[in-house]
Amino acid sequence: MQRLARPLRTAVLSSPLRAFTTPKTTTSRIPLPQTVRMSSTAVTSAEPFLAAVKNRRTIYTLDKNLPISTDRVQEIVQRLLQDIPSSFNSQSNRVLVLFGAEHDKFWDITTEILKGIVPEAQFASTAARLAGFRGGAGTVLFFEDWTVVEGMQEKFAVYADRFGPWAGHSDAMLQFAVWTALEAEGVGANLQHYNPLVDAKVAEEWKVPSSWKLVAQLVFGGKTAEAGEKTFGPLEEKYKVFGA
Ligand SMILES: Cc1cc2nc3c(=O)[nH]c(=O)nc-3n(C[C@H](O)[C@H](O)[C@H](O)COP(=O)(O)O)c2cc1C
Repeated sequence: MQRLARPLRTAVLSSPLRAFTTPKTTTSRIPLPQTVRMSSTAVTSAEPFLAAVKNRRTIYTLDKNLPISTDRVQEIVQRLLQDIPSSFNSQSNRVLVLFGAEHDKFWDITTEILKGIVPEAQFASTAARLAGFRGGAGTVLFFEDWTVVEGMQEKFAVYADRFGPWAGHSDAMLQFAVWTALEAEGVGANLQHYNPLVDAKVAEEWKVPSSWKLVAQLVFGGKTAEAGEKTFGPLEEKYKVFGA
């Protein structure tokens, strides 16, 4: 019989890091599986994963017609938020998902802020770019919780200067995974960085805790065109191997 790992709940309670488990939020939740299986006989090839990684692209031509339900988008984000690794299992990733009018509001806020910063002569192109993002169906906002990072710095002082970058690594893994999973279900997406310009307004509008540091925004929606050609530098300049 297949040996199963301990249930997640047991693993968390017996961990010295239990003080850093994710706090409760008022966000709607899709029911998640309660146990974690460390190994599975179901996965026999990396090819579906490699194909999904290859297929993920930056799509700027988005509309509001999501090919999957908002529940499915949330399920994808919630499962990845739980499954993506973090240093010492510190779980510093935080996410806010905005759909429909809330997504529109985020891009209206961003446009308003940039209007006050971008020189008038350049604003038309900026506004057109932002209107393109607003034309999507939703935005995933990715944050790092610095209460967690600072807690880890105190607890493991020897790695104090590493926990910030490691939180960034974990967040980047989550961004990539969400982007790739959405693309795998036919949803187009592109990654933006209007932080820190929008941070204060986002915190105010969506009651985001002050310890959550915004790091990226993934705009998603129906694809109205496919991605263009992509060029690749020579692999020989990027890769070394010994002893294979
Ligand atoms: C860390 C990171 C930051 C990025 N930031 C932006 C951004 O701020 N705005 C944007 O339009 N695209 C951004 N991109 C998208 C890249 O330009 C894009 O991934 C790259 O050109 C390769 O194209 P592909 O995504 O279609 O494979 C970012 C991508 C990464 C990985």
